[in-house]
Amino acid sequence: MRSHYCGEIGESLNGQEIEVCGWVHRRRDHGGVIFIDLRDREGLLQIVFDPDRAEIFADAERIRSEYVLKVKGLVRPRPEGTVNPNMRTGKVEVLAHELEILNKAETPPFHHDEQANEDIRLKYRYLDLRRENMLGNLMLRHKVTVAMRSFLDSHGFVDVETPMLTRATPEGARDYIVPSRTNPGKFFALPQSPQIFKQLLMMSGLDRYYQIVRCFRDEDLRADRQPEFTQLDVEMSFVDEAAVTNTMEDLVRHLFKETLDVELPNPFPRMTYAEAMLRYGSDKPDLRIDLELVEVGDLMGSVDFKVFAGPAADPEGRVAALCVPGGCEMSRKVIDDYTKYVSRFGARGLAYIKVNDVDAGREGLQSPILKFLPDDVISGIIERTKAATGDLIFFGADKARIVNDALGALRVKVGEDRGLIADGWAPLWVVDFPMFEKDAQSKRWTALHHPFTAPSIDDADALRANPGEALSRAYDIVLNGSEIGGGSIRIHDQEMQAAVFELLDISEEEAEEKFGFLLKALQFGCPPHGGIAFGLDRVVMLMAGAESIRDVIAFPKTQTASCPLTNAPGDVSAEQLKETGIRLRAPRQE
Ligand code: AMO
Ligand code: AMP
Repeated sequence: MRSHYCGEIGESLNGQEIEVCGWVHRRRDHGGVIFIDLRDREGLLQIVFDPDRAEIFADAERIRSEYVLKVKGLVRPRPEGTVNPNMRTGKVEVLAHELEILNKAETPPFHHDEQANEDIRLKYRYLDLRRENMLGNLMLRHKVTVAMRSFLDSHGFVDVETPMLTRATPEGARDYIVPSRTNPGKFFALPQSPQIFKQLLMMSGLDRYYQIVRCFRDEDLRADRQPEFTQLDVEMSFVDEAAVTNTMEDLVRHLFKETLDVELPNPFPRMTYAEAMLRYGSDKPDLRIDLELVEVGDLMGSVDFKVFAGPAADPEGRVAALCVPGGCEMSRKVIDDYTKYVSRFGARGLAYIKVNDVDAGREGLQSPILKFLPDDVISGIIERTKAATGDLIFFGADKARIVNDALGALRVKVGEDRGLIADGWAPLWVVDFPMFEKDAQSKRWTALHHPFTAPSIDDADALRANPGEALSRAYDIVLNGSEIGGGSIRIHDQEMQAAVFELLDISEEEAEEKFGFLLKALQFGCPPHGGIAFGLDRVVMLMAGAESIRDVIAFPKTQTASCPLTNAPGDVSAEQLKETGIRLRAPRQE
């Protein structure tokens, strides 16, 4: 129906007759002449309707926003003074000769440049996606997957699909379950990841696998989490950590070069989990922020302030400081707000010292806790935090986990609030994670990654003897403070896999019932192997500069995991329930 996209029309077409189709973005009447910005996927184009052409002018007068048109006309330069340098087609306009109204449109529930509320946006997602930036995000996502596929194809990776109707794959979230009609009372689980299948493919000899694949996790949602999301999932045989991470770094560099023309560093920096926690209180530090946590626990052992002395003496405790350059200017209210902010992470307070004059000793400092701190402790703090006149030092004291969560998050928040986030891209590998973590409530060991991750020690008995000390052969990739991917070298030995299940309190029967097929497969010649999965939505979100992964997913779910567009999840008929052998419980009467 058309000769060009609207957004493609430029000076080179001056004097030519063209045909375009699209939506009415805006209509303006100027002294009897009607101007329309016609929009399609590639951009906007100004169309002019002249009253001299009476037959089409009458139609042009009926046109409203979002009507769908086909226009034939002559490309001509815009008159002097009306050139729009902000528009790709801003040097030209089209004088309409023919107009066909292909369809009318109701007035949309929100305007293009309006900040509509998210429920409305999702309910009318097809209109929301008409916005230039939203379509742009989908285009970018497409470019990203094209670049990924071309890199992987040229490096010998084979795209294989794995089942969606399957059994639970333990990635730490709840499963979405699907009842089976042909096996009443039985359920499929939607995969939290293709983890086990990709390992089985290595056992088959596929050697290098990849898949851009949907994963399902029923977990609490946030800006960077969706119940269904997409991974770039990769697995390789006969590799160690370096082989996987080097290849994947190359992929990420290729991706940024191809889609954004950005050169990322080579190699990416690597940091141990222990160092990341110590310096940033986080296993996904944003290295664009030049602020660090400083250990001060050893200075606090004998201070007469229980809030500090207690955690300083506790092997599981931590006392740390965070120095904010120029922070003296913070008002009481600002400090109170930060105190409230860290309380979300379990912190019971947020002590601080304002350094009004670093050379004036105790007199130059201002703080509610000054009276508890002897001179040598104060000078120790100043020295270690390298605080200067005008700075403010925050303190966290508690169980290490709480201090890390609270000060780690505060570091990022203060960085954002005070404009301390440098431009650019800061990729990072975090390595040497602990293999297990003790659950605070149940006191049981849990796996930091999934239970197929290999420990750094080869010996099953040595692992059993000291699980708390073991590191895993896992690696996470972090970009600008966001965990964009994670993976590991896997266990390829049946005895070691059984030992890990045992340590995780998965009984032999349960292991047999849930993962018997994997344990069996390990006995038939499993190659050493490892891999990784990237969160595609997060990668695209960062590349697009979007605030939420919902902005780079065509049809995302709300915070309560529902879809206002289709009203999913919905009811099913009594017949469907009967067929699948399900009876619903009546909602409990309060
Ligand atoms: P993991 O659980 O770390 O690893 O997931 C890999 C990456 O997927 C992204 N991600 C999510 N993105 C959006 N919404 C979610 N709910 C969500 N959950 C995870 C993150 C994360 O880094 N099988 C292993 C990988 C492996 O070992 O090879 C796995 O799934 O960016
Ligand atoms: P208090 O003695 O409870 O009034 O606390 C004195 C100062 O220490 C206040 O500024 C509190 O915000 C701060 N504070 C209390 N508990 C902690 C904690 N666990 N970590 C850091 N600061 C704290």
